Amino acid sequence: MAASSRTRLLLKNAHIASLQDNGEPYGLIKGAIAIDNGTIQWAGSEDQLPPDWCQTATDLHICDLGGRLVTPGLIDCHTHLVFAGDRSGEFEQRLNGASYADIARAGGGILATVKATRAASEAELLDLAAARLEAMMAEGVTSVEIKSGYGLDEASEIKMLQVAKRLEESLPVRISRTFLGAHALPPEYAHDRAGYVNWLCQRMIPRIAGEQLADAVDAYCEHIGFTPEETRKIFDAAVRHNLPVKLHADQLSDMRGAALAAEYCGLSADHLEYTSVQGVKAMARAGSVAVLLPYAFYSLGETRKPPVAALRQWQVPMAVATDCNPGTAPNTSLLTCLNMACVLFGLTPEESLNGACTHAARALGREQTCGQIAPGFHADLAVWNVTTPAQLLYWRGASPLYMRIFNGRID
Ligand code: NIG
Ligand code: FE
Repeated sequence: MAASSRTRLLLKNAHIASLQDNGEPYGLIKGAIAIDNGTIQWAGSEDQLPPDWCQTATDLHICDLGGRLVTPGLIDCHTHLVFAGDRSGEFEQRLNGASYADIARAGGGILATVKATRAASEAELLDLAAARLEAMMAEGVTSVEIKSGYGLDEASEIKMLQVAKRLEESLPVRISRTFLGAHALPPEYAHDRAGYVNWLCQRMIPRIAGEQLADAVDAYCEHIGFTPEETRKIFDAAVRHNLPVKLHADQLSDMRGAALAAEYCGLSADHLEYTSVQGVKAMARAGSVAVLLPYAFYSLGETRKPPVAALRQWQVPMAVATDCNPGTAPNTSLLTCLNMACVLFGLTPEESLNGACTHAARALGREQTCGQIAPGFHADLAVWNVTTPAQLLYWRGASPLYMRIFNGRID
């Protein structure tokens, strides 16, 4: 590429929460970030700026941030962003006494969204999902994981995954796609659980892997979802096709889901409200990330909290995500979830911010390129109208985003 068409960007006069391990809280650096061609080249104090970044260089775009806070672009590592329909009626039902499980058993819940999502065209789903994604991006999000799981037949599952791909093609954001065929038993298989699991393992997972339609395989292991034995079969098929796994684990009961995900070296186990210390230790040994989803906990009025003290003790990395979905987490605000992770689960602001950056990247297998401000990482950044990370996490309301940078380009 000719030097003149290169995009060299120097962000100066910034408070940088680099999240690098540099001995400072949040990896704080007061100074500048040098970006070339979408990649961070250097971050440090301005008096140590490398010579080729001298501020008189003609090909350099310089941006004075006026002392603002810069963080890595936020990463929402667990969402069900692509869906049609509305489940506010269930919100009413729950407040009139029905439980989430009651509604699911009566054919509502996930299956209500399956019906609406099957009926929607790809273009309709794209419009709906793009609006949600733009709301996330307006709060500094630069990477999002999106699960299938509201199709539950071949064409509809693939339609959802195609929509996720088209979102990445049409908006400045990185998308990781996860196949969640094991989200609920579709009506066609209501009396044939084994047949559905076989179809997932023998038809869908090979196709998903062969056509690279997803980056990982997930399952909902729960008494109203899939059993550990069924989950194991699905994970075996994923492993045979070289797809990493993650798991909705121990959300409503202790199904030993965390340990099951760990047995398969899962990228992550998510929810974890009922996870035991044994499950935590298994995750620590496997290097799996614990993805905490405080909005679902809050929205369902749960009282049992994930074992944060044990996760800390066994040094399991904790991520925080929205779980954006129409049933248990009707919310697109990752910043709200970071605040909730602090207030409801007792994470420190530093743990919480890492939960949407370094550890979220790891939950997606992207820890080498996303989630930190360090040389070699993608220049995906959020610049905020505050100067400290604590300010970012404690106040909720209008988005504090000043500027979003994706792949080295200012939005
Ligand atoms: O992560 N629990 C399973 N999946 C979602 C809920 C989906 C829904 O209710 O539509 C979750 O909480
Ligand atoms: Fe979920």
